[in-house]
Amino acid sequence: MSELFGDLNPPPRLLMGPGPINVDPRVLRAMSMPMLGQFDPVFTGYMNEIMALSRQVWRTENRWSLLVDGTARAAIEAILVSVIEPGDRVLVPVSGRFGQLLCEIAERAGAEVRTIETEWGTVFTPDRMEDALRRERPKLVAAVHGDTSTTMAQPLDEIGPLCRRYGALLFVDATATLGGMPLPVDEWQIDAAAAGLQKCLSGPSGSAPITFNERAVETLGPRHHIERGIRPEGIAEGEGAQIRSNYFDLPMLMDYWSEMRLNHHTEATSMLYGARECFRIALQEGLETRFARHALVGRALVAGLQAMGLGIFGDISNKMHNVTGIVIPDGVDGDRVIRGMLEDFSIEIGTSFGPLRGKIWRIGTMAYNCRKDAVLTTLAAFEATLRQCGYSAPPGAGVDAALAVFRASEASPDEAA
Ligand SMILES: Cc1ncc(COP(=O)(O)O)c(C=O)c1O
Repeated sequence: MSELFGDLNPPPRLLMGPGPINVDPRVLRAMSMPMLGQFDPVFTGYMNEIMALSRQVWRTENRWSLLVDGTARAAIEAILVSVIEPGDRVLVPVSGRFGQLLCEIAERAGAEVRTIETEWGTVFTPDRMEDALRRERPKLVAAVHGDTSTTMAQPLDEIGPLCRRYGALLFVDATATLGGMPLPVDEWQIDAAAAGLQKCLSGPSGSAPITFNERAVETLGPRHHIERGIRPEGIAEGEGAQIRSNYFDLPMLMDYWSEMRLNHHTEATSMLYGARECFRIALQEGLETRFARHALVGRALVAGLQAMGLGIFGDISNKMHNVTGIVIPDGVDGDRVIRGMLEDFSIEIGTSFGPLRGKIWRIGTMAYNCRKDAVLTTLAAFEATLRQCGYSAPPGAGVDAALAVFRASEASPDEAA
């Protein structure tokens, strides 16, 4: 007989790591709405609404702004596997774990991957990008906007125009910044971008927004091969190579999201409801207000940590607003602090990867958790946990310094923004 486990009753955590974060209750409510069939006109109406809402969040006119069912890497993979034909040259600027992930996905798609590297905690200058473009002449540049592994945000405003000058497409992984930091897709001339819900959009992981423009569509057109069993008569097969993945075949997803409504996968209904609510909430707040909130709360966290005598990791002028790396002081056991925060305060903070493993903690201040009370609670708990682990910060200094940042912004909101 199989064992019947207890009720699913996860402990209430405050998720202050680099994602996932606590889901906005309005999103959870949307996700509990009744199922609809995937061709029900009400449901396809929601799909159209998702496209209209997500265009505004991406700040694009791109017709193709839709969802991939899966976590953020599903959206990344859908774009890379659909755009890259085996043998295509792809340039990846690598400054952390997620640049390396782009290399790996592009390699699996058959690309000839070329990289430029910079030390984790730094970003690329436009000059370095231009040198690499001139030398490598790639079909595609795949870059990360906010790399949560290093907490750095790569400035992108000059990269799109550079890619155009050298005839390359620009793909951006905006998993950790969409909804939290400015990413005007059209203005920055980004050709394709992918994100997730579980960072700055207040949702759970499992649905991944993507957007791509007509330049990207041009490369996809010849690879339009409709699944045999549902191919309508009169539609010509593409001349180009078939995309290696069925699930992540963008032309087939486009057929499903367009008026053709050609069947592909069974759409993840509850995730789509959740994504729709995530976009609505972000737009209701206003993107500029939301970006300013992330900047303010990030600044308050940094002020608090510095007042505790802690070092902030990396080039702070290019730090993401929504994730902060904290240098683990000598002699402090980083994992013990993470455990103490979880066990004593039910607060999750993040560990780190690769060369930064054991060297930094990461604290996220995103979307639903990008709040004054969440930061003050985290700082207070962090001070107490650090003391238990042998590091004594000046008592109360962290919370006081963060409060001072909030008070200053309340006194003169425009200046503080
Ligand atoms: C910058 C970045 N890209 C990609 C991913 C992968 O996202 P997912 O775990 O949703 O597939 C993450 C996840 O943390 C990320 O931070």
